[in-house]
Amino acid sequence: MTVSVDIGARGNGQRAVLDLEELLATRLLVQGNSGSGKSHLLRRLMEQSAPWVQQCIVDPEGDFVTLADGFGHVVVDAAGCERDLGLIADRVRRHRVSVVLNLEGLDVDRQMRAAAVFLNGLFEADRDVWYPMLVVVDEAQLFAPAASGDADEESRRQSLAAMTNLMCRGRKRGLAGVIATQRLAKLAKNVAAEASNFLMGRTFLDIDMARAADLLGMERRQAEAFRNLDRGAFVGLGPAIGRKPEAIRIGAVQSEGRGSSPKLTPLPEQPAAEDAAGLIFRPSLGEAAPRAQAATASTADVLAQLARSREAAAAAAPEARVDLFADAEREKAIAEIMAAIVAEPDASFQPVSALYQDFLVRCRIARLPGEAPDLPRFRRELAIAKAGVDDASVEASDWEQATLVAASLPEDVRGVFLLVAKAALTKAPCPSDGEIARAYGTRSPGRARRLLAYMEERGFLTCAADMRGARIVMLPDLGWQTAPGFPDALAKTG
Ligand SMILES: Nc1ncnc2c1ncn2[C@@H]1O[C@H](COP(=O)(O)OP(=O)(O)O)[C@@H](O)[C@H]1O
Ligand SMILES: [Mg+2]
Repeated sequence: MTVSVDIGARGNGQRAVLDLEELLATRLLVQGNSGSGKSHLLRRLMEQSAPWVQQCIVDPEGDFVTLADGFGHVVVDAAGCERDLGLIADRVRRHRVSVVLNLEGLDVDRQMRAAAVFLNGLFEADRDVWYPMLVVVDEAQLFAPAASGDADEESRRQSLAAMTNLMCRGRKRGLAGVIATQRLAKLAKNVAAEASNFLMGRTFLDIDMARAADLLGMERRQAEAFRNLDRGAFVGLGPAIGRKPEAIRIGAVQSEGRGSSPKLTPLPEQPAAEDAAGLIFRPSLGEAAPRAQAATASTADVLAQLARSREAAAAAAPEARVDLFADAEREKAIAEIMAAIVAEPDASFQPVSALYQDFLVRCRIARLPGEAPDLPRFRRELAIAKAGVDDASVEASDWEQATLVAASLPEDVRGVFLLVAKAALTKAPCPSDGEIARAYGTRSPGRARRLLAYMEERGFLTCAADMRGARIVMLPDLGWQTAPGFPDALAKTG
């Protein structure tokens, strides 16, 4: 099953969907003049994907705070907790809570710095919490401006660096940037260039149209059509959307935007001049504070809310992305190909890139439906296949437990963990340093010992030695332990 996020209708009346897994890997850029419907589009995307993926939106205008009502986002009011934004961002990742970073009420410099601190906090989170997350930035040209403007140089530098990190290096850390801008020409080129999916809305200025045409690979003449797009109409292209440019009309949203343009309404009857002055200079009876207090929560409030949302978030964001997207037949075919690859005698010592090439060829030969898994996915599958259990005595549910625990380790060490887990589950001797090294794709026994130490530090396992010096590994999360095995035993080959 692929997770398809329904964003509206295509020109031919069919549903327009985004492939969420692909989107996480390839990012999205939305462009359109003010009023073209970008914020509405972002809201639609977030509402529709909220059950599937953790989200953060950097919201300069406070448009998105209403997502808190129906969709469980916690509103982080930057104005109330500027000093703690880094800490809050870290907890957001740890507890996997969706948030709206509301920057309303800050001046441009402080908005930039707050966004930078928050994005850096998400980016710098520990490896063990690198879960997938959509990071949406509305009015991205404010945070990644192409040229220096009114903001002070230091704020601009910080915020541009954070946006560059998000778009260029976020993927490995699970962060998928979705950015919207009024003016492509005002957005830093390196930030725009990292998105592979585009949704282009109404665009007036030639320079923006030219850049949009370049990004979409259209002739500039064709891009003239962007001038006539209606509000809510976009042209979409990219690996998560479709192979050729397609007109898409964005569908309705459930939560209410606060950014709608003011409508002309007749003026009320005018009071006499002195009464009118009174109306604006004297407080009226029982006048309430201008904005609800909830909008400026203190740091403590936000942290308390984050803690409360933890369970809800855990329930809403299932652990393994891979499982989410599993499609039985296709997955079976992939597993078979993986098994064939690891069965090759020299597979352990081949670079992953070479194995991946081999994998792609085999996918084509096997006529795997859809696009072949990308390299990160391949790495994950490889780790699991290398450790694979074909032992009939092993309960599938036990093995599933082990893969779930492994999923919270960095990709490259999962295979090692699973190798040890497999030994523990089948009551086999603890794998030797040589075998562990091989599962990691190296011949260095020192590296194998460091890997065990790494997992021990993080509480994934505990190593002990028996009186003969044989190693026993215990897995506290699973309650299993290996039989004693000698670290320097010769690695089995084949
Ligand atoms: N697809 C749509 N369907 C219905 N209303 C829309 C749609 N797109 C935009 N709107 C409305 O148009 C107005 C401007 O849209 P908005 O998303 O705020 O534009 P932008 O963010 O590009 O400036 C809002 O009132 C919004 O509710
Ligand atoms: Mg907007």
